[in-house]
Amino acid sequence: MIEVHQLTKRYGQHLAVNQISFTAQPGEIVGLLGPNGAGKTTTMRMLTGFMPPSEGRATIAGFDVMADSLEVRRRVGYLPERVPVYPDMTVKGYIEFWAKLRGVPDPRAQAGAVLERVHLTDRQNMLVRNLSKGLRQRLGLAQALVHDPPVIILDEPTIGIDPQQVIEVREAVRDLGKNHTVLFSTHILSEAEQVCDRVVIINRGQIVAQGTPDTLRTQLQRGAALYVEIGGTGKDSAVQLLRSIPGVESVEKQGHGFAVRSKTDVRGELSDRITRAGYRVLELRPVAMTLEDIFLDLVGREK
Ligand SMILES: Nc1ncnc2c1ncn2[C@@H]1O[C@H](COP(=O)(O)OP(=O)(O)O)[C@@H](O)[C@H]1O
Ligand SMILES: [Mg+2]
Repeated sequence: MIEVHQLTKRYGQHLAVNQISFTAQPGEIVGLLGPNGAGKTTTMRMLTGFMPPSEGRATIAGFDVMADSLEVRRRVGYLPERVPVYPDMTVKGYIEFWAKLRGVPDPRAQAGAVLERVHLTDRQNMLVRNLSKGLRQRLGLAQALVHDPPVIILDEPTIGIDPQQVIEVREAVRDLGKNHTVLFSTHILSEAEQVCDRVVIINRGQIVAQGTPDTLRTQLQRGAALYVEIGGTGKDSAVQLLRSIPGVESVEKQGHGFAVRSKTDVRGELSDRITRAGYRVLELRPVAMTLEDIFLDLVGREK
């Protein structure tokens, strides 16, 4: 439903999105997960036809986001990072306005239906200016849904709203996923895990990992560290031995032993080699890391 090939965006010299490729199948909820400045908003603006890519291409339902942008907009509901609001309109008036703009056959009826869907019916006569941030987010969602598009693109819909509303928005997204293809961005790992069928991790404009939360968990944890403590004379020189094990990426001193990072499971080989070299393995255990730690390692710990 969404196909992205080598999509790239430069702002002047700055490479904001660098050759990213991913897909979202019909009915899938795909999470675009990455820290601030990763390129999530830029990607979404290209997918919704608001901004031309510098290179690469993307299609939605087979339509090119640039060449067929009208067809694309008809099929996409977009909740931007900052929802444009018209403070003096009523809630219902605002949604009717968008319904007309999008050429919906019966704007009044459709506005009513969509407000019901996002549970804003009892607020329909309120002025937009008086809505809380959370309610405004729901209004933005109604705006994105008003023409009943098969694809929904939501840019960090839970940012800046209170915890109860965060839960509601996450539920709304899961709900949407039952009948829509959803692309949803977040900088919160646990949110991506909870809400998405598949997660695309992006950092500094590049995709660093993608897969279902389960496969990502396994993949990422395989790269986690082991703690090994070695006994025997001259054990400090064992660091060379550890580094020579295939798959080992780094060895650092930690406490009385070493932290060993590897791409693959090296425990067997590691204990064999240590023993063969005449040392003893006193302790060998995974360094306890949460998925959050691993994610932060992957995207760098700078804020
Ligand atoms: N209009 C712009 N002009 C220049 N640089 C921009 C513009 N918009 C975003 N950037 C830069 O592009 C990078 C990606 O930004 P953005 O797509 O907003 O990331 P995210 O949504 O993941 O926080 C950042 O380094 C940001 O500073
Ligand atoms: Mg953003």
